[in-house]
Amino acid sequence: MTAAIDVENLQKRYEDVRALDGVSLTVPEGSFFGLLGPNGAGKTTFINILVGLVRRTGGRAEVFGHDVEDDYRRARDAIGLAPQEFNVDRFFPIREVLQHKAGYHGIPESTAGERADEVLRRVGIYDKRDTRFDWLSGGMKRRFMLARALITDPDLLILDEPTAGVDVQLRHDLWDLITELNEGGTTILLTTHYIEEAERLCDEVAILDSGRLLTVATPEELMDRGPDRITVTLRDAPATVPDLPTLAAGEREGRIEAVELDGDKLVVTATRGGLVAPDLVRALDRAGHEIVDFDISRTSLEEVFVEMTREGGGDRTAEPVAADGGELP
Ligand SMILES: Nc1ncnc2c1ncn2[C@@H]1O[C@H](COP(=O)(O)OP(=O)(O)O)[C@@H](O)[C@H]1O
Ligand SMILES: [Mg+2]
Repeated sequence: MTAAIDVENLQKRYEDVRALDGVSLTVPEGSFFGLLGPNGAGKTTFINILVGLVRRTGGRAEVFGHDVEDDYRRARDAIGLAPQEFNVDRFFPIREVLQHKAGYHGIPESTAGERADEVLRRVGIYDKRDTRFDWLSGGMKRRFMLARALITDPDLLILDEPTAGVDVQLRHDLWDLITELNEGGTTILLTTHYIEEAERLCDEVAILDSGRLLTVATPEELMDRGPDRITVTLRDAPATVPDLPTLAAGEREGRIEAVELDGDKLVVTATRGGLVAPDLVRALDRAGHEIVDFDISRTSLEEVFVEMTREGGGDRTAEPVAADGGELP
């Protein structure tokens, strides 16, 4: 099967900034793929190369087997892009903007209007079809960007920070919409620095930092890499940290990293805490400790992400708050 995106040793330099520093990545057809990274990591540059807005300075980039420069038209026609920044003809009614866009991508005039209505309904702003972009609310502008990305019924939908600064309701609407599209077979590439979004939606995520790919894995795999915290409350506070010698048995799967005693609470740091838990309970039971409460809190993708991107250099400046305000809860 042809990959939706296939990129090898991709590079982009701006003078002395290496926005992309040798990125190799394959996004399988049909997947819901997350591109994560702090501000300045190179996410938008990566996307802009795929859609022909930025010229690479090295390496290879293909969309459904078409080189993004040598075979620009075919690569570009396969992609629907909802960009990070609004770049819209502000003075035309939005339905017309969509018709123009459809025409530009070779959709005949006879069906372009129908198609425009369809996507406007889909994103929930059909009743605003005769309004110009400028007059839409911030949330409606976001919805419109998605409508425009969908006008060509793309095989690959690219969303660059689609939920930056949107309210909770819209964020959930957008999540539902793109999940539905993905279930219908559309490949999704989503960039975000909201880890919760990636954790919820993506089959696979790539973490990019300072133009370099740190890892590609499922959110679940990434969370397994970080330590979990198990808090065991005992009936009687032990005088010393209980000896837990039998726990070496599970070493290959889960592993206890540290044990601390805090009054009647035993705080155990372990990789794959869920696998360690049964052994832990048995060992404490054998040693005569009565357990009154047991809690496992898993590493979040956020913690893994912060850990992985902490060392790197690069731009760490905050992004400007979106005009329509709002932040993640
Ligand atoms: N047109 C440009 N000229 C110079 N530097 C740029 C330009 N576009 C992006 N950069 C730099 O490239 C790096 C990656 O930026 P970008 O791809 O926008 O990151 P992200 O989308 O992950 O926040 C940053 O250091 C940014 O300042
Ligand atoms: Mg960006």
